Amino acid sequence: MSATAAGKRMTVPAFKNRKGGEKLVVLTAYSAPVAALLAPHVDALLVGDSVGMVYHGLPSTVGVTLEMMKLHTAAVRRGAPETFVISDLPFGTYQATADQAYLASVELLQAGADAVKLEGGTELAATIKFLSERGIPVMGHVGLMPQRINQVGTYAAQGRTSEAIARIKADAEAITTAGAFSFVIEGVLETLAAEITASVKIPTIGIGASAKCDGQVLVSDDMFGLFSDFTPKFVRKYCNVAGEISQAAQDYATDVRAGAFPSENETFK
Ligand code: KIV
Repeated sequence: MSATAAGKRMTVPAFKNRKGGEKLVVLTAYSAPVAALLAPHVDALLVGDSVGMVYHGLPSTVGVTLEMMKLHTAAVRRGAPETFVISDLPFGTYQATADQAYLASVELLQAGADAVKLEGGTELAATIKFLSERGIPVMGHVGLMPQRINQVGTYAAQGRTSEAIARIKADAEAITTAGAFSFVIEGVLETLAAEITASVKIPTIGIGASAKCDGQVLVSDDMFGLFSDFTPKFVRKYCNVAGEISQAAQDYATDVRAGAFPSENETFK
């Protein structure tokens, strides 16, 4: 049962205490109605910058802005007032300086987030320390970092060479030491995810990183079968919302063209 379902609000200390215990359940949410539907079943909602791709039709998360994240964060907070909400700091709002990261984080917290997430490792450890020491809970994100698509060129699993494995392990260690309360591990081989999870004192949240992590996150639209531009290997579709919507639109069009909608019952007399 999620903390919300149990009538308790999730907190950063409670989240950290789940290390090695009951698995943490996280899903992305971007709108008030979907947040309300998901909230009773999760430990936290992530307002991911994946919103750019799944809601705004952007080719990657690079074009997502702080304004977009604030609007979606506020909507999710309205839909799920008692749920722990983590919001992504979008590309370009935290990498330049710790001050820049602090100011952007404050905007997300004031929009309704309980914590922020940022992508990066050793190079961002000082920023994570700066934020954590100033009351901003930070979730890290290592392994595959979608905001770096222009540099990496692929969304394929990371950590396939000894050099890459060493770098991802060092990233995990650095952000843990810096004060992150948890971090996402995305798109890495199971052995690496398991090794990192066993070696750090904070919960790891996997996406494409195996069941060996302390919790899991999925992009909810992938899991609903709603975003079908591509389906990564690690996604399980729990329903086929795209099929339902398409069928509903087809049935509506047939009814309208046949004069069968609206019916007498659906008409004001
Ligand atoms: O933006 C997002 O949805 C994410 C998850 C994939 C972890 O960062």
